Amino acid sequence: MAISKALADELEKRRAVALEGGGKKKADDRHAKGRMTARERLGALYSKGTFQEFGLHAQHKTRHFGMADKVIPTDGVITGTGFIDGRPVAAFSQDFGVVGGSLGEVHAKKICNALDHAGKAGVPVVGFNDSGGARIQEGVGALSGYGQVFYRNVQLSGVVPQISVIAGPCAGGAAYSPALTDFIIMTREHASMFICGPEVIRAVTGQVCTMDEIGSAQAHASVSGNIHFIAENDAHAVALVHRLLSFLPSNNMMDPPHRIEPDLKIVDDVVLDELVPDDPKKPYDCREVIKRLADEADFLEVMEQFAANIVIGFGRVGGVVVGFVANQPTVKAGTLDIDASDKAARFVRFCNVYNIPIVTLVDVPGFLPGINEERRGIIRHGAKMLFAYASATVPKITVIMRKAYGGAYLAMCSEDMGADRVIAWPTAEIAVMGAEGAVNILYRKEMAEADDKVAKAKELADEYRTQFATPYLSAGMLAVHDIIQPRETKSAIALTLRGLMSKRETRPPKKHGNIPL
Ligand code: HXC
Repeated sequence: MAISKALADELEKRRAVALEGGGKKKADDRHAKGRMTARERLGALYSKGTFQEFGLHAQHKTRHFGMADKVIPTDGVITGTGFIDGRPVAAFSQDFGVVGGSLGEVHAKKICNALDHAGKAGVPVVGFNDSGGARIQEGVGALSGYGQVFYRNVQLSGVVPQISVIAGPCAGGAAYSPALTDFIIMTREHASMFICGPEVIRAVTGQVCTMDEIGSAQAHASVSGNIHFIAENDAHAVALVHRLLSFLPSNNMMDPPHRIEPDLKIVDDVVLDELVPDDPKKPYDCREVIKRLADEADFLEVMEQFAANIVIGFGRVGGVVVGFVANQPTVKAGTLDIDASDKAARFVRFCNVYNIPIVTLVDVPGFLPGINEERRGIIRHGAKMLFAYASATVPKITVIMRKAYGGAYLAMCSEDMGADRVIAWPTAEIAVMGAEGAVNILYRKEMAEADDKVAKAKELADEYRTQFATPYLSAGMLAVHDIIQPRETKSAIALTLRGLMSKRETRPPKKHGNIPL
């Protein structure tokens, strides 16, 4: 018995209305601004022909404010699954063209279904946020909807990677859903994210500001640290999602997508011998070192503009996906401060939860001295790094290139903090503090009595350096496992990673540790 024409037509008619979304005029307006519609974003996200939609026929249940007969196609959000590079991924895309992409009960339920599916199937989830926030006509039902989304974001944290794209407004409490996910990509124009906008700030506090200052992609990438990547437009945002996913496993029970060839052919890289100056005061860009170590110099830097004194990101070494953490001597001399500690600690925890080994490149003069740092709680924030590294059970390889002083030496994953392998270059200096600082404390009396204080300080500092400005003392104590020429670094890391692929490290059962937040 064939399906009747009337039934088939009815389906096509309903499909057409739903697929039309906010209509042609709204879509044209978007295109005129160089933006994609919600459906086009999913089209770009997924390999052609792989998208399966859930809830195309969803309808809101609101009866107030003359909404009873109002048709809201897809209830303002498109959800489903599809494939990216052959791997299944769940997604939702809020449709600003349909009641401003505002979130009501059914809209929230659709997002929750996508999140639940991601959790059950063990697949990443990508959310395009482009919404006026809670649907005002639905009142507490909309707030409750947000609560249900937040709850699921938290349940999925550490289970499947969650990536948020902010591609339009993301206002008020709505911003907390992306904030609960692993990565936020925000388009440079047309996107904003804030808890209280300029109007509210002015009305309540009298402070005057612009949206650019508080809610733009640039502000979040460089000042607040709320986002991880800026995208130039929608297509770039999708490209960044693809690139990010290329380093991530689908869930916490899987390995990341390594590309391991049976033969490891890594030749010495003499450029590394020259890249880092012997003189510990001379800066260099640590990204150049990372790119020498990463296969095909392919390094995806995360949070490039925020706390630039530490560099984090993904790459592969000898085919193995790793997370790099490196001090950046060109910014604040590579010291660790509050923001750098927060940035690195969260990244280490992300790598750990998704089975991504961590390669730490050390050249750190210490924690940043300063009244602000002390008063804002550098103790608490710096402790996050210690906590994150010590609790990470993935393979951890530390390369000490030059300075490794004081608490920062430990915070950059020393042997005592659980590094599986610590490799040092001959230029490594591992000490409680730098020579000049140490001499001032150790030899205060001698310095006071010296006729030529400058010469005396230099003499004592040189003596201190001969003692400590070398990795051999640490190697003698087994805090450094090997000292290598810089040129040998990539093969040393690659071999060590392969040797650690089956690493198992168990910890006492507990609900969770109490990381200083
Ligand atoms: C219902 C909404 C809406 C909302 C927008 N619309 N936001 N409908 N609830 N929250 C509708 C508009 O009525 C309009 O409908 C259409 O979407 C497009 O909106 P415009 O205002 O015409 O667009 P634009 O000029 O681009 O301005 C976008 C905007 C503005 C800046 C986002 O719409 C706005 O300020 N919206 C309200 C933002 C807000 O305060 N939301 C609550 C945040 S608090 P028509 O029919 O004309 O096309 C929140 C709480 C979450 O979300 C709490 C979680 C714990």
